[in-house]
Amino acid sequence: MANVKFFFGDDVPLEMHKVRIVQKLSLPNVDERLTYMREAGNNTFLLNNRDVFMDMLTDSGVNAMSDQQLAAMMIADDSYAGSETFTRLHNKLREIFGMEYFLPAHQGRAAENILSQTFVTPGSVVPMNFHFTTTKSHIVLNGGRVEEIVIPEGLEIESDYPFKGNTDIPRLRALIEAEGADKIAYVRLEAGTNLIGGQPYSLENMRQVREVCDQFGVLLVLDASLLADNLYFIKEREAACKDMTIRELTLEMARLSHIIYFSARKLGCARGGGICTDDQALYMKMRELVPLYEGFLTYGGMSVREMEAMTVGLEETMDEDMISQGPIFIEYMVNELKRRGVPVVTPAGGLGCHINAMGFLPHVPQNQYPAGALATALYIASGVRGMERGTLSEQRDENGVEPLSEMELLRLAMPRRVFTLSQVKYAIDRIHWLHENRAIVGGLKFVEEPRILRFFFGRLDPVSDWQERLVAKFKADLGDTL
Ligand SMILES: Cc1ncc(COP(=O)(O)O)c(C=O)c1O
Repeated sequence: MANVKFFFGDDVPLEMHKVRIVQKLSLPNVDERLTYMREAGNNTFLLNNRDVFMDMLTDSGVNAMSDQQLAAMMIADDSYAGSETFTRLHNKLREIFGMEYFLPAHQGRAAENILSQTFVTPGSVVPMNFHFTTTKSHIVLNGGRVEEIVIPEGLEIESDYPFKGNTDIPRLRALIEAEGADKIAYVRLEAGTNLIGGQPYSLENMRQVREVCDQFGVLLVLDASLLADNLYFIKEREAACKDMTIRELTLEMARLSHIIYFSARKLGCARGGGICTDDQALYMKMRELVPLYEGFLTYGGMSVREMEAMTVGLEETMDEDMISQGPIFIEYMVNELKRRGVPVVTPAGGLGCHINAMGFLPHVPQNQYPAGALATALYIASGVRGMERGTLSEQRDENGVEPLSEMELLRLAMPRRVFTLSQVKYAIDRIHWLHENRAIVGGLKFVEEPRILRFFFGRLDPVSDWQERLVAKFKADLGDTL
């Protein structure tokens, strides 16, 4: 971010953009919020956005777009094959990643489908710093297994370790030795590790991962969906990289990867995705799946307008002022909540502010989904919609056993350049109030549980009348205010 110091000592994030298009919001009252939560089966994914005040469910496809991105959409070339739009996007990816080949896909999980179908075989293993929900599902669906080898600090809720997304190098080496290199489908590194709080890895750690991959002759695949945050944190926190530009850092990360895939709902602030590689043989192995599942090779299921916006968004990602906006707002929120005694994941990462639901609701057992319960409580208390990232987001194993998640987090995503500081302050105020009243909040139980990715459309009930009691306390404390 531009180096701006407030003369009177305020320590607040400063926007390096101005708002030119706005969307009206509404804030239902607390009784309405209880009703809407019930109707949504106590699943924040099933709320209607018109009933949400601050949508902190995700940053996926909802980051603010720039005037330049919107302008670029007007020049999209609609042709089915060989469109100029594809050429512009391909050239931009060549420029920032230095990789020759690009396979378009309609979003990140579609790229994961192609990768898993191509490289994962029954009995194979994919070591990774940490899984993402859709990533794991695709690997498991193809008969593979995920092994998480994030460093121990990665699973500590409170820490001042700057790179909690780092891979544990001795464990990676030991795992490959134990399994045998031929059983490793590929090693996956996730930038801005989503499920452990948007935590970055260091460039040094990535170099070490690549060394191990070279030693055993296995592929290194980078999930670059949250690359923008990771680039910012490397620049801020890794002394050896202080003088590298964002562009140089990006090229170096790409040089260390055999394959890069990404969700452009995140990277590039548009909607789409794709796979890049500099290896023709790898490209040819994956290529035929694109027309089968996505669309022809020059659009891959994406709208050409989104592709134009992505091209500009990728270029804008090379601007430190732009990629700092998420992290500095998140840091403000995390520090302010911590100051008020609310348990949050530290240090602040990218993506959003992560509340430690097990610390917030120690009386709610994990099989009653503390992070899911907290998500419903926060919506009732504020109209803020967050996302459960804990046991509810896990999948039962083949014997129907529910694995308990290592962390129970309520993720409050910070879509980039979307919220104002006063809105963030409102969210902090209501979380603080909820924390003061945490003893009222109880757990949830499934009434409808889908087999795959159950958190998307599962329906739950509260285990008691705690939600009604929470509403009564809200009215007692705040009167008829919204
Ligand atoms: C790290 C990571 N990988 C993959 C995906 C899947 O991308 P998409 O939602 O575009 O399918 C996401 C989405 O949130 C993600 O955060």
